[in-house]
Amino acid sequence: MRKLTGALAFAAVLATNAVGFAAEPKAPFELPPLPYAANALEPVIDAKTMEIHHGKHHQAYVTGLNKAIAADKALEGKPLEELLANAGTLPAAVRNNAGGHWNHSQFWRSMKAPGTGGKPADALAKAIETKFGSIDEFKQKFQTAGTGRFGSGWVWLVVTPGGELEITSTPNQDNPLMDVAEVEGAPILGNDLWEHAYYLKYQNRRADYLSAWWDLVDWAEVSKRFDAAKSAAN
Ligand SMILES: [Fe+2]
Repeated sequence: MRKLTGALAFAAVLATNAVGFAAEPKAPFELPPLPYAANALEPVIDAKTMEIHHGKHHQAYVTGLNKAIAADKALEGKPLEELLANAGTLPAAVRNNAGGHWNHSQFWRSMKAPGTGGKPADALAKAIETKFGSIDEFKQKFQTAGTGRFGSGWVWLVVTPGGELEITSTPNQDNPLMDVAEVEGAPILGNDLWEHAYYLKYQNRRADYLSAWWDLVDWAEVSKRFDAAKSAAN
């Protein structure tokens, strides 16, 4: 099995550690609790959406992943990051559910109550300005990538193994830690483009959800991930 190194290895453990897993989590995986109340993100994301998204959708990925691993002895004891790194050669049920579990784990920890997430720290702000022109231009490009994803998926800000910032989008529950990703890197921020993330409040208006979502981003957390990914990349 392919092993992750550098920025990718860091990124793989980042979200799992952040939600209180062991350093190298392995099956049986567990649903991490939300780091805030279900209504904490209102009015940007309503409590009902959070309850279903976390308690039903994320739980289903965890359950599905444990079931897929139990069905294949060769996968027992494999850390989540190793499953992701080899997603292209593993059964679809492992790829989809391992991705779903990792993606949602980072998602909950990327957000805070509206207006309390602060700004990118200096190093991240400078890197964003150098790469995208300004924070606003970065947000626009991230939203464009998000609205441009046909069907379900995710939009990401990643640190590539070379230490560069890139915006990328992945289909379904794939992510940039997977060997199948178009752009591989350490995801430091990801937004969920599945309708289950926004449909109750925004219905078909994905662009409105993407635009409103910035009010929730926990920039201290994202800046911390950036610093760690940079030091692992260089
Ligand atoms: Fe989701």
